[in-house]
Amino acid sequence: MIEKQKRDRYEMHKYWGKKPSSNLKVLIEKFSAEGDSVLDPFSGYGVFSCEAFLLNRNVISNDLNPIANFINRQLLNRDIDLKKLKKEWDIIKEELIPFVNNWYQLDLEAEKVQLINILRDNNDIPIKARFKVGGNKKTQEITLTKKQVEDYLKFENEQVISDWYPSVELIENSRISAKKGMTVAGLFTKRTLACHARLLSLIESKSTGNEKELFRLAFTANLANCSKLVPPIKTRGDMSQGAWMTGFYIGETYLENNVLQYFENRFTKVVKGKKDYLNFFEKELFEKKNQSYYITQFDAKALNIASDSIDYVFTDPPYGDAVPYFEQSIIWNSWLKFSPNYNEEIVISDAKSRGKNTSVFEIEVKKAFSEIRRVLKLGGYFSLTYHSLSGLEWKAITNACIENGFEMVDFNWLVQKTFTPRQINRSKSIKGDVLVTLQKSPCIESIIMDENQIEEFFKREIEDWLMKESLDTNEIFLRIMKIIFSRKIVVGNTDLLEILIKNFGFNDNNKWILNDKLELC
Ligand SMILES: C[S@@+](CC[C@H](N)C(=O)[O-])C[C@H]1O[C@@H](n2cnc3c(N)ncnc32)[C@H](O)[C@@H]1O
Repeated sequence: MIEKQKRDRYEMHKYWGKKPSSNLKVLIEKFSAEGDSVLDPFSGYGVFSCEAFLLNRNVISNDLNPIANFINRQLLNRDIDLKKLKKEWDIIKEELIPFVNNWYQLDLEAEKVQLINILRDNNDIPIKARFKVGGNKKTQEITLTKKQVEDYLKFENEQVISDWYPSVELIENSRISAKKGMTVAGLFTKRTLACHARLLSLIESKSTGNEKELFRLAFTANLANCSKLVPPIKTRGDMSQGAWMTGFYIGETYLENNVLQYFENRFTKVVKGKKDYLNFFEKELFEKKNQSYYITQFDAKALNIASDSIDYVFTDPPYGDAVPYFEQSIIWNSWLKFSPNYNEEIVISDAKSRGKNTSVFEIEVKKAFSEIRRVLKLGGYFSLTYHSLSGLEWKAITNACIENGFEMVDFNWLVQKTFTPRQINRSKSIKGDVLVTLQKSPCIESIIMDENQIEEFFKREIEDWLMKESLDTNEIFLRIMKIIFSRKIVVGNTDLLEILIKNFGFNDNNKWILNDKLELC
């Protein structure tokens, strides 16, 4: 089941935690039928919802993050006129080109050139620049002279930005490098800020309807690419293009990219994604079906959906402290003037102002899962992925399933990664996406054991298995999950990985063995 997800329709915009679409297709076909009502209460980009819709299911796609729903809407919308889009882009470009060119111009001795990227240090001093000359496709790179640096900064300082841009502050959170007083605007240079602000204002004034929404999608998709958050990949050269992964860390150097050029690339990707989606509807068979989709912005703890009405639920719940979705999405939400409901986000955040700690996370996950139980029909299936099999998230989610009367019917790996023992020890967490399918049972029962009892119990089981053979971490987790679900054990605060590290050895083949076997080796 290991497969990379590379469908154009899912490459239009960044979002953390998109799941491989081919895996989801298999799941949807296995656990639901055409015409069924299916729900993803934490839908994000909307990969599940899109696959389910294309398979003729009636979909409710829900997320509390406005940008997620915005992306999802652009993904699922069929009413797009690509010719109008192209025409509007030509009109926008006509005004944008001279504006951007003015900002990215560099005087070389013989001619004026348009810069593609500028390497700047974290005091914003430009160091190097790249450009293309004439019709030549190859880029040239130069180290800027003292005079060029002075002119570059002087020009920047003299400009006044007349278009609107967001003025919001980031939520202070050291874990994602959001320092006190940092603003969204401060993630950009004056050049990239001015060019984005003008681009957005042109989109707002020159485009209309659903095509405008697609431009806005390409616009937010471009923001991080042209911010200070893109560090060069130093091992490949100091001007080699990296990508924004997560957080707001600004490195020792960053690349200031040409907003027009990068936006055009993003725009092409969006059009490609849209074509990939629209192609689907040309198949005659599809047209005859009556499936619908709703994109909703409910808090998953209080879904405005009728009880016992949903045939199948799939979800990929929030990743505990691994991704503070709303805090990071501020770079997108703020530009589109969306205001997320931070209070109700289910997350573990280091931001002191938010009070989103582990125990609150556990309570909130439980509430969301009891909503899933309420809306799901009796006997209906519920598939969910675990982003990590260790630590807080694993416990919170496993306990929430058991305490809400779900029984396990299937267990699989969605994305499996192997880690060296050093990595495992260092991070105390194995990463790999696990997929569990559960069924809503008529009654809710669970066994509550104290932590020592659970630890002893798990230890004994693992010892028995390791007497017979060495096992990798994933296999041990799988067996333990089967026991937990079949006996309905609430795992409390037990950390399975810690039990493994404390009591067993790990050999060179990345397998767990009994400690005495380790000594013998
Ligand atoms: C792991 S992501 C889902 C990613 C998704 N699988 C995709 O394909 O993009 C979890 C989602 O939960 C959302 N979320 C967090 N708290 C929520 C709440 N209270 N109600 C609904 N959605 C919430 C986040 O905005 C985030 O998009």
